[in-house]
Amino acid sequence: MADIRKEIERRRTFAIISHPDAGKTTLTEKLLLYGGAIQLAGSVKGKATARHAVSDWMELEKQRGISISSSVMQFEYNGYCINILDTPGHQDFSEDTYRTLMAADSAVMVIDAAKGIEPQTRKLFKICAMRNIPIFTFINKLDREARSPYDLMEELEQEFGIGTYPMNWPIGCGIDFKGVYDRKKREILAFNEFHRGQNKIKAIECSLDDTETLDSLIGEKLRRTLCDDVELLDGAGYEFDIGQVRDGKLSPVFFGSALNNFGIEPFLESFLDMTMPPLPRKAGDEIVDPFTDKFSAFVFKIQANMNKAHRDRIAFMRICSGKFERDKEYFHVQGGKAIRLAQPQQLMAQERAIINEAYAGDIIGVFDPGIFSIGDTICDKSMKVEFEGIPTFAPEIFAGVERVDTMKRKQFEKGIMQIAQEGAIQIFHEPYTGVEEIIVGVVGILQLEVLEYRLKNEYGVDVRRRSMPYEVVRWIDNEGLNPNDLNLTSDTKWVQDFRGNNLLLFTSEWCVNWALTKNPGLELREFNRE
Ligand code: G4P
Repeated sequence: MADIRKEIERRRTFAIISHPDAGKTTLTEKLLLYGGAIQLAGSVKGKATARHAVSDWMELEKQRGISISSSVMQFEYNGYCINILDTPGHQDFSEDTYRTLMAADSAVMVIDAAKGIEPQTRKLFKICAMRNIPIFTFINKLDREARSPYDLMEELEQEFGIGTYPMNWPIGCGIDFKGVYDRKKREILAFNEFHRGQNKIKAIECSLDDTETLDSLIGEKLRRTLCDDVELLDGAGYEFDIGQVRDGKLSPVFFGSALNNFGIEPFLESFLDMTMPPLPRKAGDEIVDPFTDKFSAFVFKIQANMNKAHRDRIAFMRICSGKFERDKEYFHVQGGKAIRLAQPQQLMAQERAIINEAYAGDIIGVFDPGIFSIGDTICDKSMKVEFEGIPTFAPEIFAGVERVDTMKRKQFEKGIMQIAQEGAIQIFHEPYTGVEEIIVGVVGILQLEVLEYRLKNEYGVDVRRRSMPYEVVRWIDNEGLNPNDLNLTSDTKWVQDFRGNNLLLFTSEWCVNWALTKNPGLELREFNRE
C-alpha cells in the first residue's frame, strides 16, 4: 500500500494545448529531452513516420502522413513520473482532442508571442475551463519579434476571464532577446547563442540594483525597461495564490523559446512544483480517492481498426485510482461483466510497450473486442463505481450523408451507427419528415473523410456527401418543448440525435442569439451532458 501511494504521488498527467504552429511539438520534445526519454531533438517532430514505424495505423492515416489519434507519452524527471497527453491539431482536430482533456489533471497552454490567442487555443481552453483544471501558460518564440507581454497577458485575462501571474518576465524580444527575469528567485536567466544546443542553462544571479553587471548582460536600455517593468509588476499588488492556480482561476505565465530550449527546465520544475498528483474523481455521489489500493479507470478514447486484418480497436483509459495489474480480473460496469484487460500497452516516448502494472494518473491502451464505449468505467470487482460520463462536444462542421446504392440500407445504418458509437462522429436526423439522409456533425473536417473511407472499406457502402451551412449546434434543455413552436430564423434546423434529444442547428452565433431573444425561456446548451 505504501508503495502504491508513493507511485501515485509522483504522477503528473497533463495535456499540452495550442493552436497549430505555436510550438506544442517543440515544447513536448524539449520536455522529453529533459526527461531523457529521447536522446535526439527531432524525434517528436517526425511524428508521422516514427509512429507509423511502431504500429499499424489506418490506411488513411498512412496515406495522409498524419496522425489521427492522440497519444500519450510517459517519462521520468527528478523522481516524477510524467504523462503528457497529446492533443492533435490541424485538420486531424477531432472530438478525441477534446476528450483527451477529460483525462488530464492540468493543461499547459502554448501561445505564440507574436500571435497571442488563436482559434484552437480558444476552443481547447473552453474545455479546460469547464473542468476547472489548472492551466499554465507558456508564451513561446520570444527569440522572434513579439507582442508586448502586457498586451498578451491582458488578452488572456479579458478573453478567458482568468487571472494571470507572470512567473518570469522577458527581457527584449527578437534579435534583442536577452533572457528572462525570474520573479521568485529574483535572478536573470540570460539567453545567448549556446542555448541553441541542448546544454543546461545556468542562471546568472543578479540583483536589479547591480547596475554594472546588468548593463554588461543586457545593455542599459533593456536594464532600465526591466527595472521599470519589475517595479510595475511588483507594485501591481497581484498576490500569487496557489489555491487559485489549482482551481483554474489563475494561470502562471512563463516566457521562453522552445526551439532554443530556453526557459524549459525552469518551467518544468516550477510546473511540477505547483501541480498536484491525481485528484479524486466524481462517480455519481461518490468521490473516488486516487490513493486507494483499488483500481478504477474510465475510457476516454477508442481507436478503431489500428490493424485492419483483425478489425481490432484499442480503448484508452485513464486510471483514476489504485494500481492496475495485468492479469487481474476487473469489472466492466456498463457491460455488467468481469473482464481481463488484454494486451495492456503504454507509450513510452515513441515506443509502445506491453505493461504489467500502472497507477492512478497513468493512461493505458487495451485491446477492445468491441465491448467498450467512451465514458465506460472499469474497476476492481469490489468497487462498482461509475464515473461521470464524458460530455458530447458541439460539432462545428455538418454534412448530409446518404448511400449511393439504395440496396445497402442495412450496412449503411450499421456502419454509421457503429462509427458514431465509437465517438468519431455525431449523427442527427430530421424528425417526422421522412428524410432518410443522415446529418453528420464533426469538429474536424478530416473526420468526414475518415467516415467515407471507413464506410467503403469496412462496410462496403459508397456514400454521397453534401456540405451543410450550419456551424453551431445547441441542445435544447427545456423538457416537453415542441421545437416546431419556436420562433426561429428560416435557416435554423431542428434535428434529433440518436438518443432522441432535440437540437437546433444554426448557421451562426447571431442566429443563436436571435432564437434566445425571440423565445424567452428557451434554454440552450453547448455540451450534451451524458
Ligand atoms: P505545433 O506542434 O504547435 O504545431 O508547433 P511546432 O512545435 O511544430 O512548431 C511550429 C514551428 O515553430 C516550427 O517551425 C518550429 O521549429 C517553430 N518554433 C517552435 N518554437 C519556436 C521558438 O521558440 N522560436 C522560433 N523562432 N520558432 C519556434 P517550422 O519551420 O514549421 O518547422 P521546422 O522546419 O522547424 O521543423
